[in-house]
Amino acid sequence: MTGRTKPRPPERAGGHRPPARGWWGRGGGQSKVLDGPVLARGTTVQVCGLWPWVVGAGTPRAGVPLGRHLDTGATVCADPISWFRDARLIANPSLFILGLPGLGKSTVSRRMVVGLAGYGVVPMVLGDTKPDYVDAIRAIEGQVIELGPGRGSLNVLDPGESSGAAALLRDAGHPTEAAQVEADAHSRRRVIVSALIAILRKAPVSAIEESILGQALYVLDARHPGVPVLTDLLQVIRDAPDRVREVAVDRGSRQRYDEITEALEAALLSLVRGGRLGDMFSRPTSEPMRRDRPVVYDISGLPEGEQDQRAAALLACWSNGFATVNVAHTLADVGLEPRRHYLTVMDELWQALRSGPAMVDRTDALTRLNRTIGTGTIFITHTMADLASLATEEDRMKARGFIERAGMVICGGLPAHEMPMLTQVVPMSRREETLLASWATPPGWKSDRDTPPPGMGKFLVKVGGRAGIPLQVELTATEAGIHDTSHRWHEAER
Ligand SMILES: Nc1ncnc2c1ncn2[C@@H]1O[C@H](COP(=O)(O)OP(=O)(O)OP(=O)(O)O)[C@@H](O)[C@H]1O
Ligand SMILES: [Mg+2]
Repeated sequence: MTGRTKPRPPERAGGHRPPARGWWGRGGGQSKVLDGPVLARGTTVQVCGLWPWVVGAGTPRAGVPLGRHLDTGATVCADPISWFRDARLIANPSLFILGLPGLGKSTVSRRMVVGLAGYGVVPMVLGDTKPDYVDAIRAIEGQVIELGPGRGSLNVLDPGESSGAAALLRDAGHPTEAAQVEADAHSRRRVIVSALIAILRKAPVSAIEESILGQALYVLDARHPGVPVLTDLLQVIRDAPDRVREVAVDRGSRQRYDEITEALEAALLSLVRGGRLGDMFSRPTSEPMRRDRPVVYDISGLPEGEQDQRAAALLACWSNGFATVNVAHTLADVGLEPRRHYLTVMDELWQALRSGPAMVDRTDALTRLNRTIGTGTIFITHTMADLASLATEEDRMKARGFIERAGMVICGGLPAHEMPMLTQVVPMSRREETLLASWATPPGWKSDRDTPPPGMGKFLVKVGGRAGIPLQVELTATEAGIHDTSHRWHEAER
């Protein structure tokens, strides 16, 4: 209200209201600058009688408290299980976390692990490569299973709890469920052995070879009284039982059978003799996984350079973890066990996806559950470029499907060139794209250890086409003490 078009001052007397900026004119005290209203937050108990100007919090209150909304400062709570089960905000309890390295993806996922454990969910961290979760799982009295050369082993042919569970189900008069558990264990073992061989060879396992493995596993289960190991599977293939020869299509010729199975035998021999993938998968399981306590598989003992070993270990952990969850759900369905809810965490997804051909399919098969109800999943990877660098278009499409199917996506700082790929699967506004790219900016040259990169702990929670919720994860003092993935560096500096 400046310049020549000043309105006439309204009459002051007679109860007129002042205009928006106050009375103008001499002695009026008109305000040139309008302050924004003061924002204050309180619970409904504290501010129940306050009216007007009250607005509900823009963020859901259900779930694990993650941090503060970057614009409003309100507490943001989010986790895939609470948002699915309690708040009904997402269509399935799965979360995909994307972001550049070192910006706090594992930290936010670990917050959910600890928070949900507090709500009674059983977290299972299926493969920790750093380790990011070991201390936290130990702190909540969970089970830490070490895998690696000279540490522990995970026999991929161990049916785990499924044999015992199947017997229990039959005794209790549930033969259909028992057969389901057995069939699931059988297919998981076939998939994981095929996956190990594909990683070893860097070439796919043929359909015939997969059938041979499948039939050999049936023969093995029938003839082997205890828990078999890969050497026993190799022996079955060498013994050439009829059931296996039939699917090998050897047309009655033993020589042809030997030719068909030669490559398979060589791969199994490498696994048994501790070849490139070590003998971690062919020795008896050193410590079985429990299904009533938080669990983490610590695979940080595997050398960082041994990408294939790490990928194989991740897949083996996923296979074992999901098999256990399936058994637990089936037993709970028929009332033989209390119903437990699980949260499975698959960090460093890219390591497994890039380890060989068709790994996306195998990951999909290994992490599939008969019923998704009662199990939340967290997948973590770096960038869309990780997925785009997969060898075939088919794999790339399927990998995108992982994100598309996730009920909830949390993005950290990502470079601007990621956006065209990302927005194809997660709709983003221009502003959101700019925000994510700004979090990917490196810190200034002069920054020291106390100045974190701008994107540290900043995330955007996206659910379908809704506007994202930007938040800053704040570490509690306990978390900051327990978790510091760069602690080896910091120790050296002290
Ligand atoms: N919100 C935060 N505030 C302060 N420090 C944090 C925060 N989040 C993470 N950090 C610190 O940043 C470092 C890296 O975090 P984290 O391991 O979670 O990153 P990441 O994204 O999982 O990395 P990578 O991709 O390498 O696995 C850790 O030392 C952690 O303590
Ligand atoms: Mg991480």
